[in-house]
Amino acid sequence: MLSLHPCLPPSSVLHRGTGRRPTGNDSQPSILCTADGRAGVEVGHVSADVNATAIVKRIQRTKKYAHLCESVIRRASDQAVARYRTEKEAEKAARRRLHQVYGAYLEEDWVGEVGRALDAVDKDDLAEPRAFCLPLLDLHASTRERVDNLDTLFPRIFSETGTPSHVVDLACGLNPLTVSWMGLPESCRYTAVDLHEGLALVLNRFFERFGLTGEAVCGDVLEWDDFTADVVFLLKVLPCLARQEKDADLATVARIPSRDVVLSYPSKSLSGRDVGMVEHYGNRAREIADCCGRDLIEIEGASELVFVLRKGA
Ligand SMILES: C[S@@+](CC[C@H](N)C(=O)[O-])C[C@H]1O[C@@H](n2cnc3c(N)ncnc32)[C@H](O)[C@@H]1O
Repeated sequence: MLSLHPCLPPSSVLHRGTGRRPTGNDSQPSILCTADGRAGVEVGHVSADVNATAIVKRIQRTKKYAHLCESVIRRASDQAVARYRTEKEAEKAARRRLHQVYGAYLEEDWVGEVGRALDAVDKDDLAEPRAFCLPLLDLHASTRERVDNLDTLFPRIFSETGTPSHVVDLACGLNPLTVSWMGLPESCRYTAVDLHEGLALVLNRFFERFGLTGEAVCGDVLEWDDFTADVVFLLKVLPCLARQEKDADLATVARIPSRDVVLSYPSKSLSGRDVGMVEHYGNRAREIADCCGRDLIEIEGASELVFVLRKGA
C-alpha cells in the first residue's frame, strides 16, 4: 500500500495497474483510450484520429529524440493528445514540450566527447582516473560548477550519511565521473540513472574500463521505483522535475524510502549572478523536508546548495 503525506498533490499516486504515473490525460476522464493509446471518442479537444502511440513512435525515430527514454516521450505525447484536436497539432506540441524541457540536455555533443575520450584511454589514464575525468566534468554546466569543490563535497556528504552500501544517482548527468572523489568502498554499488540512453552507454563503458562497481541505466526519474539504496542523490535536478509535472520535485522525494536523500540546487545563475536562488531553493528544500517528514541537514561551504534529507526516526 502506497502511503502518501497529506500535503502531496494527487499526481504523486503511482498507477499500479499500468505502472505509469498520471498524465495530462488522467484529468480528462471522458476521454477513452484503447490499449494502443488511440483516443476512442471525440470529447473536448480529442478526436478519434489522435493516436498518442503513433506520435511516440514517430518522435522516437527522429535524430534529436532517439536517445530519450520512452516514458518521457510518452508523457509529453499524452499531455499533447489531451489538449489538441489533430494528431499533427498534438505531435507539434509534444515536440515543442520535449524541446523546452529536455532540449538543453540533448543538443550538445558532450556524450560523444566522453565516448571519444574513452576510446583513447591509456594506462596513464587508468592509473589516474581523476586526471582523466576532470576535463570531461567541464563539459556539463552542473559538474563544471562542482569541479573546484570535489575534494571536500563528497567527504562532507558521506560524513553525514555514513558510508553507503548502495548509492542511486538520479538524473545523474556526468556526475558519475566524480566517483573517484567519493572514497566509496569497492563493495558499494553505484546506480546512475538518466533519461539519455547514449549517456547510460558511455557511463557503463567508463565503469567497466576503470574497473568500478557501477551501473548506468536509461530511465525516467518520475517513473523510477527501485530504491534499495541507502543514499539517493538528486543533484541539481529538482527544479527541472517540477517543470515536467507540477510538484514532481516533492512527489519524487516523497516516494523514496531510503534513509538519506541528498538534494542540491545551483546557488548562482548560469551567468554566475546571485539572483536569490539560495533563499528560494533553501525554502523549497525545507518545504519538501517538512512535507516528507524528513530532517534537513545543510552541507555548508559547497559551491552549490546541498542538503541531506534524513528520514525521521
Ligand atoms: C541539471 S542536470 C544535473 C545533472 C547531475 N545530477 C549533476 O548535478 O551533475 C539535469 C540532468 O537530469 C536529467 N533529467 C532531467 N529530467 C529527467 C527525468 N525525468 N528522468 C531522468 N533524467 C532526467 C537530464 O538528462 C540531465 O542529465
